[in-house]
Amino acid sequence: MFLLHRHIGKKITVRAPGRINIIGEHTDYNGGLALPAATHLALMMEMESVRDPSWSIQALDPGEHFQLLLHTKNESSYHWVGFFRAMHSYAEEHQLPIGGLKIRFNSTIPIGAGMSSSSALTSALVAGMNHLFGWNKAPLSLIRIASRVEHGYGVQGGLLDQMSIFLSKENQALYLDFSNDSFHYLPMKTPGYSWVVWDSLERRQLVNSPYNQRRKAVENVLQDLHAPHWQAVSATEINNVKGISKEVRMMCHFILEENNRVRLAAKCLKEENIVGLGELLKASHAGLRDQYRVSSPGLDRLAGHLNSQKSCMGARMMGGGFGGMVLSLIKTQSLPELLYGIRQLPEFKRGSGRLHYPVHIGNGLTIEEQN
Ligand code: GLA
Repeated sequence: MFLLHRHIGKKITVRAPGRINIIGEHTDYNGGLALPAATHLALMMEMESVRDPSWSIQALDPGEHFQLLLHTKNESSYHWVGFFRAMHSYAEEHQLPIGGLKIRFNSTIPIGAGMSSSSALTSALVAGMNHLFGWNKAPLSLIRIASRVEHGYGVQGGLLDQMSIFLSKENQALYLDFSNDSFHYLPMKTPGYSWVVWDSLERRQLVNSPYNQRRKAVENVLQDLHAPHWQAVSATEINNVKGISKEVRMMCHFILEENNRVRLAAKCLKEENIVGLGELLKASHAGLRDQYRVSSPGLDRLAGHLNSQKSCMGARMMGGGFGGMVLSLIKTQSLPELLYGIRQLPEFKRGSGRLHYPVHIGNGLTIEEQN
């Protein structure tokens, strides 16, 4: 759509955080519950609306540059280009005003590891375009657009990542109910304890992983049950469903149990019950490994090791799974010993890369005008 002249020459900086998800995994796309929080790790995107109708995009860290020509399909091997192209196609298809852009971005969120690095990119882009091109859309619409754009690129995720990015607040956990996309905040008070994310160094490829199959399998059961979402289903109903495999039945039970763990975790947070919270993380990992089957050998070894240490209250794989990160709640003062111990594990002995990210609970997406 034609861009109004008054939108040209504006410059903004968008900051979109990566998230942790305390608990509530694989529950977002089936109307369940989750308890994420934004971290201090973030993607920064500088965006300027320009007259030239192409998008000139620079990824600062690897020093990659790409000129996205809006009406020809010039391809690139940089993985991030696909998100920009998908965003551009979405805006055109939905007749949203767009124009030329000069974009520069960099990020401290570990890439493709379960901390929503891609959603931070698409969310920053959508929010920035909304601001620069005067779309006037409410956060929930932008959240849905960001998610649709990512779907176009492969993974049929829910709204967990985008809601965390847009709605989080400093030092608060976000209690999300995907049955009606409502949310509220819970103070994150864990004095003496820290949230630390550990890298299994196994890189996940959710696009080619069975993520979409898991989603489809449980959606089919929900349809058979004629239920609006899994919060409206009981364990007995799951047991009574006919014609599903043992594996799929276990997956359905996992969803109910994980939703319940989110409710209990919220209670533990309110009561500052660290031991209880840690036990829920351990149970969540076991469910993701044995019932929903989205873990990986590396994630299991890492979570297993952490969960055998006294100074770790609980650890679990985080995000879509099939590689990526493990989230843990640990005694702050024991971090050096824990890190030393993990470095002694065979798979981490030789590596010199970064293995751990102590996270601070930060703010959701912000936009700053430059002129
Ligand atoms: C990925 C998806 C999210 C969510 C998680 C699992 O991160 O993008 O929508 O489904 O996996 O909880």
